[in-house]
Amino acid sequence: MDRVAAVDVDALERDALAAIGGAGSADELDEARVRYLGRKSELKLALREVRERERGMALNALREKLEQAVAAREAELRRPREDPTFDPTLPGTPIPRGSLHPLTQARRRIEDIFVGMGYEIFDGREVDSVYYNFEALNTPEAHPSRDPQDTFYVNARAVLRTHTSPSQIRAMERHGPPVYVASLGRVYRRDTLDATHTPIFHQVEALAVDRDITLADLKGTMQEFATAVFGGQREVRMRTSYFPFTEPSVEFDLSCYLCDGAGCSVCKQSGWIEMGGAGQVDPNVLEEVGYDPAAWQGFAWGLGIDRIAFNLHGMPDLRLFWENDIRFLGQF
Ligand code: PHE
Repeated sequence: MDRVAAVDVDALERDALAAIGGAGSADELDEARVRYLGRKSELKLALREVRERERGMALNALREKLEQAVAAREAELRRPREDPTFDPTLPGTPIPRGSLHPLTQARRRIEDIFVGMGYEIFDGREVDSVYYNFEALNTPEAHPSRDPQDTFYVNARAVLRTHTSPSQIRAMERHGPPVYVASLGRVYRRDTLDATHTPIFHQVEALAVDRDITLADLKGTMQEFATAVFGGQREVRMRTSYFPFTEPSVEFDLSCYLCDGAGCSVCKQSGWIEMGGAGQVDPNVLEEVGYDPAAWQGFAWGLGIDRIAFNLHGMPDLRLFWENDIRFLGQF
């Protein structure tokens, strides 16, 4: 009997489907596939020699059926086995998510407020020259803030900036007036590290230069800014002071954002919290960048960000901002 006639299609189908369906692993399935569909399998050899149309169709139909069975079994084997102890209705294991550092959050919030008031955010340099940090800001060589006791000198001409005020000069140098910029970032001073002092901290500098700018504009802008930062109605109080780059100069306080002025331990029962320094941009500073002080006036202020976050969060120690303890940072 020839090879084609010898094939019992029904018996072969039964055996092959049993072997394929019963394969318990990819290897076993592969064995069954080779045995029943491989190049030297009974079926393939018969298919190669078949001449009769009917018989050929029957063998081809079987081949197709077996190929489908192999594919189906393969998919089944790949599917993860059901685990009787797995309860899909239980809540999943929470994946811990990081959070932004509280100072980064404060910084972004402050930047948003300035952008909302139409100011441009300007990045200064953390390492800047003595010229930008002091000289262009009308600060004479003998001024105590230039003392190496207070300032980190990189070399004779460069310092780690002691304030964000050099950004005033760099911003004004870019183009002529009017100028409305805010500049935020790290500043450095030779302070001994303790619970309430860190040699690195953050300031935000505001500068507005336009026609007819007065101290009243400074006060109004500060009040607007403080209300946006702290909510409620903030009062601003100015006290006369001195900075080489402003004339007149003031220090300004804010009605306490914790007790609303009633008196608490943070404002030491005074109802006011010191915020920073400010004033009308000194004519010498305007002249230094080529602005005509007869035509243009400006105000500027600088304040520390760290202390605000420190007070708002009721923190016991400023060093927490720098230790990167996830138990602290995870609370924000
Ligand atoms: N740069 C001053 C400081 O760090 C603050 C200040 C900024 C004062 C702008 C006046 C105008 O103390």
